[in-house]
Amino acid sequence: MADEVDLEMWTVVDVNAPPPENNPPVNQDPSKEPAVEKTRMEDSGSPSLIEHEESVETFSPPSAVIPGATGGSNGVVFNTKYEGPGTNVIANVTSVGDLREKVTLSWKNINVFVPQPRPSICKRLCCGDNDDEPRIKQILFDVNGKIEAGSLLAVMGASGAGKSTLMNVLAHRNIAQIQVTGTVEVNGHPIGLEINSLSAYIQQEDLFIGSLTVKEHLTFQALLRMDKHTPKKKRMERVEEVMLELGLKKCADTVIGIPGRLRGISGGEKKRLAFASEVLTNPLVLFADEPTSGLDSYMAQSLIGSLQRLAASGRTIMCTIHQPSSEVYAMFDSVLFLAEGRTAYMGTTAEAVPHFERLGYPCPMNYNPADYFVQTLAIVPGEEEQCRDRVKEICDVYSELEAERSKEESGYKSGDRGIERQDSFQADVLFKKRSPYKASWCRQLMALLWRSWIVNKRDVIVFRIRVMQAVITGLIAGLIYLQIPYDQDGIQNISGVYFFLVTSASFTSLQGVIFVFPVELPVFLREHKNGMYRTDVYYLAKTLAEIPVFLISPLFLITIAYWMIGLRNDFVHFLVCYGIMCLVTNVAVSFGYIISTIAPTITAATSLGPPLMLPLLIFGGFFLKNTTVPVYFIWLKYISWFMYGFEALIINQWKGYGSIPCTTETTIAPTLSPANSTSAGNGAFCIPNGDAAIAFQGFDADNLLFDVYIMIALMIGFRIISFLFLLMRAYKEQ
Ligand SMILES: Nc1ncnc2c1ncn2[C@@H]1O[C@H](COP(=O)(O)OP(=O)(O)OP(=O)(O)O)[C@@H](O)[C@H]1O
Ligand SMILES: [Mg+2]
Repeated sequence: MADEVDLEMWTVVDVNAPPPENNPPVNQDPSKEPAVEKTRMEDSGSPSLIEHEESVETFSPPSAVIPGATGGSNGVVFNTKYEGPGTNVIANVTSVGDLREKVTLSWKNINVFVPQPRPSICKRLCCGDNDDEPRIKQILFDVNGKIEAGSLLAVMGASGAGKSTLMNVLAHRNIAQIQVTGTVEVNGHPIGLEINSLSAYIQQEDLFIGSLTVKEHLTFQALLRMDKHTPKKKRMERVEEVMLELGLKKCADTVIGIPGRLRGISGGEKKRLAFASEVLTNPLVLFADEPTSGLDSYMAQSLIGSLQRLAASGRTIMCTIHQPSSEVYAMFDSVLFLAEGRTAYMGTTAEAVPHFERLGYPCPMNYNPADYFVQTLAIVPGEEEQCRDRVKEICDVYSELEAERSKEESGYKSGDRGIERQDSFQADVLFKKRSPYKASWCRQLMALLWRSWIVNKRDVIVFRIRVMQAVITGLIAGLIYLQIPYDQDGIQNISGVYFFLVTSASFTSLQGVIFVFPVELPVFLREHKNGMYRTDVYYLAKTLAEIPVFLISPLFLITIAYWMIGLRNDFVHFLVCYGIMCLVTNVAVSFGYIISTIAPTITAATSLGPPLMLPLLIFGGFFLKNTTVPVYFIWLKYISWFMYGFEALIINQWKGYGSIPCTTETTIAPTLSPANSTSAGNGAFCIPNGDAAIAFQGFDADNLLFDVYIMIALMIGFRIISFLFLLMRAYKEQ
């Protein structure tokens, strides 16, 4: 069980302190105290310390999952705010976290392979199958490295060098499509999926629910990602604090936006929001894949400044970056250059220039070293062979250096020799995993319902369209069958009305939900992998939030159509009719969820929906008499909610209904059995009453409850199936 510890919160506003840009560079030596802690020591009691806030709260230290961590000690959180000339919106240091929980991250012999698709059958038949062609492509080659606790590492290299791949591998995210071997260690102990509970990852692509505002998004993250013992007030304070730090205050109530649909915050603000979402929880290890792309140079420098201060507080940070300015480059403690999936250099930023100089690549005066090294390691089109040779030579030299260093190290630690390293990517390592969720099942559900409610409220246009659809359909049906006469023709028409209502409710509901999961799937998968919520909770919240819409739209449809058409004139029958329509709608919605969870894209979902529903419609009892369904399609009849809904509505309309007028002009039932009919006097038969009308459709008057139960069963069954599909997708991604 995790220890409960006290947490102390400091807020230091030092008006005389130099702006953070001028702070001395963070020391590489992990044994040295972080700069912020120093600031606190020196400033205590000084006139510049104008604010000190202390609070006590309990939390479970993450040491519970950190191999080798000293853990279980008092956690100290510092808030150091600098105010002075040259200080910018994100130049503040905040909430530094438990300094005793430090993580040194290292990785050894990381190899990544991507299976290559086989050529198509046609290509193989026509050109032959070349068995010599490798079926697998290697994109990382024996990559080794280490980030000391409390330091900031920049990963650089040309596009396609493997930076994101290495980061994904170390963070254990997005690696479902690739094969990885190697060891990732935390404080010298191999770690598998547990890295997820220690780390946060700012990914290259931003993914948000666009209709939330900045503050709502951060609140949602705070509710589900912060430690479960953190009180709500503290979470909200943290949200405010992070918004202030990252200059998001002025757009706190602006919606994030959906590209091409809903104008929202700017690209730079999105980047900062992605950053804010991750630092909210004070992770011990932070991976940031191109956090500065899309930011102006001023903001980029400020953001790296924030990372630098987080590192100074004891965090371990790895960041990929393209084209850092010389100032930004100098802010990193160490740097890793990748080229063609191999390590070209890893070491201190200061050592990089002499290293490349020794290899014959001196960085020209007044030249940005980062630009120079990336250009040296790039594969230039048209000069591929020459460039590859250069890269190979540089990487070979580094490998030799690394081998020597490792030999020396193993000489010191004789015990290390001959130890077989555990592969962090073996299935048995992966499955040794504790629950990654910070919030309880109920909290997850409440937070997701809250978010779904906001999204539905913002997307009120969708709700209005659904209601308008129901109103228009009700009016059209009402006008076509206005005050229908209760005679022999009327029986047929009433059947038509009910089948039309069942069909239109089913199609509109299905169309309304089939895109739900394809649209949100990337966000769901990322948040699920971030350990924010379980798949079942997400599914439940998503479907619960949709229920009101699918109870309100049939209400409009039935209220308008029922009384305009003049269906059975009695309030109880009206209520039963509404209840049946609600069931029909919700079974169709459940079927829609199956399509939605199977379909990989929105286009696939919209194309799959109608063809999958049509066979069920045909066996609904209107186009084909129930008794004449071919034996090989009988199973389709049993899962056709059209049939159960239609039968239930017909029974509700006609059961116990008295006599129906019969004249020679309106006879319709030559096939009706004489027992259930009366003669019209011209050789044909009439339907004498409501019960005979039910029998005429091939339905059983006692089936009402049976139909209701079956529809409930179908609704639940379809939802379980769609949930299983969603679970499968989540599992596959994992
Ligand atoms: N799942 C995959 N399937 C096939 N190839 C892949 C896959 N993932 C990565 N690659 C390939 O591996 C190489 C490295 O990709 P990666 O995304 O790591 O590059 P990068 O250094 O991050 O580039 P950038 O700077 O453009 O983001 C690229 O050539 C890429 O095409
Ligand atoms: Mg990348």
